[in-house]
Amino acid sequence: MRKLFTTMALMGLITGAMTLTSYAGSNSPTVYKSLGGKKAIIAVVDDFVGRVAADGRINSFFEDAASDPARLAKFKKNLVDQICEATGGPCKYTGKDMKSAHAGLGIGSADFNALVEDLVATLDKFHVKDQNKNALLGTLGPMKSDIVEKP
Ligand code: HEM
Repeated sequence: MRKLFTTMALMGLITGAMTLTSYAGSNSPTVYKSLGGKKAIIAVVDDFVGRVAADGRINSFFEDAASDPARLAKFKKNLVDQICEATGGPCKYTGKDMKSAHAGLGIGSADFNALVEDLVATLDKFHVKDQNKNALLGTLGPMKSDIVEKP
């Protein structure tokens, strides 16, 4: 996992200025289909957001979102659309770009890694195969340099 993070961090450094569409790389629907389509992605996002909300390392970042059901629902929908699109599914992410969405939050590298750890725990719970897990993480890794503002 550490190796993967290092690779992802490097990819992030190299591709920091990319847009979401280019983050996603190829938009062949293979990974989307193997994940189980939109229903499965909704279940993954529900579980993942629950883990983040319970994660004392990073849940303070999400206090505002968690205290407003409409905002939380929108946040989850954005995540579903983002994962769906990034894995080649038939969705269109309409939220903010990653730099604007996280500007001023003061997210550090350890916070980013904690969130990815929570996502990995979710993917493991859903028995997502390593190949698909790595493909999904590979689409998120390059976003790191747009999200993290301090070491
Ligand atoms: C690859 C990793 C990440 C992805 C794909 C991601 C994705 C997103 C998306 C799609 C949004 C919604 C944008 C919008 O409202 O238009 C968002 C918002 C946000 N993200 Fe991230 N994010 C990531 C990492 C992080 C990390 C590491 C933190 C903090 C530990 C974080 C904290 C937040 C917060 C606080 C918001 C605003 C939520 C709200 O109040 O509505 N994100 N993120």
